[in-house]
Amino acid sequence: MTLQLLGSLTARQFLRDYWHKKPLLVRDALPGFKGLLDPAKMMELASRDEVESRLIVRGSDWSLEHGPFAASRFRKLPKRNWTLLVQSLDHHLASGEALLEQFTFIPRARLDDLMVSYAVPGGGVGPHFDSYDVFLIQGMGHRRWRISAQDNLDLIENLPLKILSHFEPEEEYVLGPGDMLYLPPRYAHDGIAVDECMTYSVGFRAPSFEELGQAFLNFLHDELELPGRYADPDLALHKHSGELPKAMLAQIADHLNRIRWDEDFITAFSGRYFSDPKPHVFFTAPDKPLARKNFARRVASRGLHLSAKTRLLFSGTQFFVNGEDFVATGAERKHLMQLADSRKLPAGEYGEALIGLFYDWYLAGWLDV
Ligand code: SIN
Ligand code: CO
Repeated sequence: MTLQLLGSLTARQFLRDYWHKKPLLVRDALPGFKGLLDPAKMMELASRDEVESRLIVRGSDWSLEHGPFAASRFRKLPKRNWTLLVQSLDHHLASGEALLEQFTFIPRARLDDLMVSYAVPGGGVGPHFDSYDVFLIQGMGHRRWRISAQDNLDLIENLPLKILSHFEPEEEYVLGPGDMLYLPPRYAHDGIAVDECMTYSVGFRAPSFEELGQAFLNFLHDELELPGRYADPDLALHKHSGELPKAMLAQIADHLNRIRWDEDFITAFSGRYFSDPKPHVFFTAPDKPLARKNFARRVASRGLHLSAKTRLLFSGTQFFVNGEDFVATGAERKHLMQLADSRKLPAGEYGEALIGLFYDWYLAGWLDV
């Protein structure tokens, strides 16, 4: 099936020819798209503690400030050359979550968040590269993107943000409402607002192996089971009391070599890692929660949906929700797979055990009815 979002390519063609390989400009990727919020609403979001926001001003130098921002901060800004960025819009706006649904041809484990930027004319984050793939969707107004496949990705030193020291644009496009530009990782780009404009970026998670390795070792540390204790009933008399005995080293090596992991262990780690909420994410429990019976009735008559911040992933019978794991089989597994894929379940009967699990999630603010 071809997708308008991908310029009438199929998802398969896009993955084969563009993903990680080359940029794709799609005019009218989202026909009629004007954006998901206005600048005033965005500034209101940027004033909240729980929302990650940044303000970048380009004067004789670049300046970077982190939110939250009082409304008065924006009144003091010049008419040109600044931009406000708000991260994880999908957590704060149902329409943001809905926009991400268009990108599920990429596994959800890879999906990071939806960022929005608002810029006055001349505003932008400067020429840079990102370490992950990004889809840049133009909402209100127009932005001029200059892009380059250059290999030189050196950055200007001692700046608060990552700006390329030598940017040599090769192509240039002005994007208007509904247009989209896909860029592979490490592709140099610079988007400058032509007029007052807003741009939505769909970003993907691509942790470094160093980061993954460290997280894995923490996981291993938590899960480690090495029974027994060092003992040397056959201790031989030593020549040097200061020397580490060879038999001691051999015994330690023997036990440490028993630290092993298999595919299931790697799956358990990966599932927990990729479903773990980011540090600034907090779930809000319902104010006046339904009693369990009423909750079950509501699910039967209206269905349920995951709350925007919840991440639910699976592999075989292993399920991972917000950094926790459990096993499900049979009909329960089928329902949970549907929930992980589409983030919602229609009205219906899901059985006592699953309703019990969903009720716990509901009380924790992980799902809504
Ligand atoms: C922006 O929206 O100004 C920046 C997005 C990006 O370059 O990744
Ligand atoms: Co970028």
